[in-house]
Amino acid sequence: MTEPTTIKTGSSEKAYTTLPGTVGPEVVDIRKFYADTGMFTYDPGFTSTASCQSAITYIDGDAGILLHRGYPIDQLAEQSSFMEVSYLLLHGDLPSATELKDFSWTISRHTMVHEQLSTFYRGFRRDAHPMAILCGVVGALSSFYHDSTDITDPKQRMIASHRLIAKMPTLVAMAHKYSVGQPFLYPQNDLSYTGNFLRMTFGVPAEPYEVNPIIEAAMDKIFILHADHEQNASTSTVRLAGSSGANPFACMAAGIACLWGPAHGGANEAALNMLREIGDVKRIPEYIARAKDKNDPFRLMGFGHRVYKNFDPRAKVMKATADEVLKELNITDPVLDVAKELEHIALNDPYFIEKKLYPNVDFYSGVILNAIGFPTEMFTALFALARTVGWVAQWNEMISDPEQKIGRPRQLYVGQTARDYMPVSSRIG
Ligand code: SDX
Repeated sequence: MTEPTTIKTGSSEKAYTTLPGTVGPEVVDIRKFYADTGMFTYDPGFTSTASCQSAITYIDGDAGILLHRGYPIDQLAEQSSFMEVSYLLLHGDLPSATELKDFSWTISRHTMVHEQLSTFYRGFRRDAHPMAILCGVVGALSSFYHDSTDITDPKQRMIASHRLIAKMPTLVAMAHKYSVGQPFLYPQNDLSYTGNFLRMTFGVPAEPYEVNPIIEAAMDKIFILHADHEQNASTSTVRLAGSSGANPFACMAAGIACLWGPAHGGANEAALNMLREIGDVKRIPEYIARAKDKNDPFRLMGFGHRVYKNFDPRAKVMKATADEVLKELNITDPVLDVAKELEHIALNDPYFIEKKLYPNVDFYSGVILNAIGFPTEMFTALFALARTVGWVAQWNEMISDPEQKIGRPRQLYVGQTARDYMPVSSRIG
């Protein structure tokens, strides 16, 4: 039993229960703190706040460790598949061969979208950002699948989860097709989850599409690396939306909106644009200086992390995959040389060392996605595709949590105290 935590406020002090996790920091249960003291705790950005209990993903930011249901991310990336990791995140254990076959079959049976959904795309400009389209069409799914919006019914929750995991590749591929003016391709369920996605994205009705196994394996690994990541901003958005009882499709649309930000999932697009803007290793010092300049809002995109104060383990796998894929595809991309040199210089610079800024998952991913042929604007949509399984796993966990209630943070009020209304005739100015 862990010792209670005593908190002294003014002249009084109170003991609060300390809750231990299976691993990682303990938490102080302060749910009664306001009732006891009349005070709120203050933690903008939630740097020291646990919003929930979770058994899905564990990150040790100092050691650069990422576990999904206890399995290290590098082992999953090297030995598992995105379908298997999806099962693991949703159900808590690696599936048997039969369970994996049944799960993959179930997912493949939900890959098509309602035919009317394709008309939603026609309302967008051809140059609409794919994330703008996804915010719209994923939220719109709730108007087509009323039979899986009752969040109190575990069966409906699981069908909605399967639908979201299965339909995201179709919706993301449709966003790409729409942007290049090519017809949408229907899913082909004799292909793997990732192979199906590649065909819907890069195939054309005019000829058969051969899935390249090198690209299929790299893409599947990239999906695994993006699947879930504890209570990050977009997952917390999904949980908060879900805490009001909103339907799963609306919750995922909220998560997509949050992920779009350049400080979060939008960083992969921003990182490649930054590497292209740097263009030459000779210009790296200029950008390092800008990143360190307090008066310059520029930041090294793909660098730094709220939790990792060591190497993001996903970035290590991503960097190795970038080398492999470019070599296997016989592509040389000067941007990869710029990325490696930038990493080397930054990791030897006192500013980055002192602030513990390392490359994160977004630093190298763009180099691979670009080599595979995705336009830069698609990068965050690919992140959303992969993160959907993490969002639905966390959403299911939240709804099944008996301690869960609607999220409603308080504030430190620094505005005007009460004052009487003044008619416009008596206002000055
Ligand atoms: C993702 O949460 C997750 O798990 C997210 C994610 C996931 O899988 O869901 O891992 C995915 O979002 C990865 C992060 C992608 N974002 C970027 O690469 C954008 C660039 N990085 C930063 O904007 C920043 O590092 C954050 C947003 C990622 C983290 O910001 P924090 O934790 O709020 O840290 P901070 O902004 O307080 O920075 C601490 C210090 C600051 O300097 P001081 O004010 O203390 O002097 O480090 C500096 C910052 O100025 N700093 C950087 C920097 N990141 C932080 N300086 C230069 N370049 C950077 N990239």
